[in-house]
Amino acid sequence: MQRKGIILAGGSGTRLYPITMAVSKQLLPLYDKPMIYYPLSVLMLSGIREIAIITTPQDQEQFQRLLGDGSQFGLALTWIVQDSPDGLAQAYTLAEDFLAGAPSAMILGDNIFFGHGLPGLLASADKKQKGGTVFAYRVADPERYGVVAFEGKKVRHIIEKPEVPPSRYAVTGLYFLDGDAPARAREVQPSPRGELEITSLLEMYLEDELLDVETMGRGFAWLDTGTHGSLLDAGNFVRTLTERQGMQSGSPDEISWSQGWIDDDALAARAELFKKTAYGQYLKSLLEE
Ligand code: G1P
Repeated sequence: MQRKGIILAGGSGTRLYPITMAVSKQLLPLYDKPMIYYPLSVLMLSGIREIAIITTPQDQEQFQRLLGDGSQFGLALTWIVQDSPDGLAQAYTLAEDFLAGAPSAMILGDNIFFGHGLPGLLASADKKQKGGTVFAYRVADPERYGVVAFEGKKVRHIIEKPEVPPSRYAVTGLYFLDGDAPARAREVQPSPRGELEITSLLEMYLEDELLDVETMGRGFAWLDTGTHGSLLDAGNFVRTLTERQGMQSGSPDEISWSQGWIDDDALAARAELFKKTAYGQYLKSLLEE
């Protein structure tokens, strides 16, 4: 079955208050584009065209204003509301009807990935129909994340925000799971902080020896946008890359066109819409090159 995508863009963003009092975190700018463009691009690079976007009830309309039905990117978007942010694992039960048994790739709406090797990594995760794949990335502050506990080279556990991290490897917010994920997610019990943790779901897959943990090496960037400072740093990183290379990253328009999901005319229309920006001029230049 064709893998479907989920972007989890709910949450109250309290760590970014007061900026996120009136606007969803995932709509904030990362330099020249809204944050959600970047995780959307990752799913598109995986070849996924059917994508559900999960938002809070109050933010849904704004996301729809930005992304519509997805046809401008050759996508089919489905909109799902999460009434209260009860944890990442809940996304699978909310998306159960949408998935209809299909395997999925879920990405958190505030997770930003860059790396030349990304398409290859995504393609091999996509090939695995049974079980799942997650990605581990070395960070300086693992206690903020789900952390991998190794025994030799083997992954024993994934522990949510451990006080004493068993390793420096955090599990990133990109999860390739098989069609059993919604049924398994229904078995997840709330954690001490009252959330249905994604790590509890991943532990179930681990116990059944069905989870691959792939390391994203130093050639990749997995950026944090969780604090005011890291949000600004991530924006500056995007600006540095874009201006130095004269190339865009996190552009759903470009990816859709290069995947052959939209034609030259459709890309030209997008370039025209954005013609007052460097982004629009970049899209135009793709057609001229
Ligand atoms: C969540 C997950 C955590 C994961 C992180 C990645 O953390 O619970 O396992 O490492 O996303 O961004 P949260 O955003 O809820 O703090």
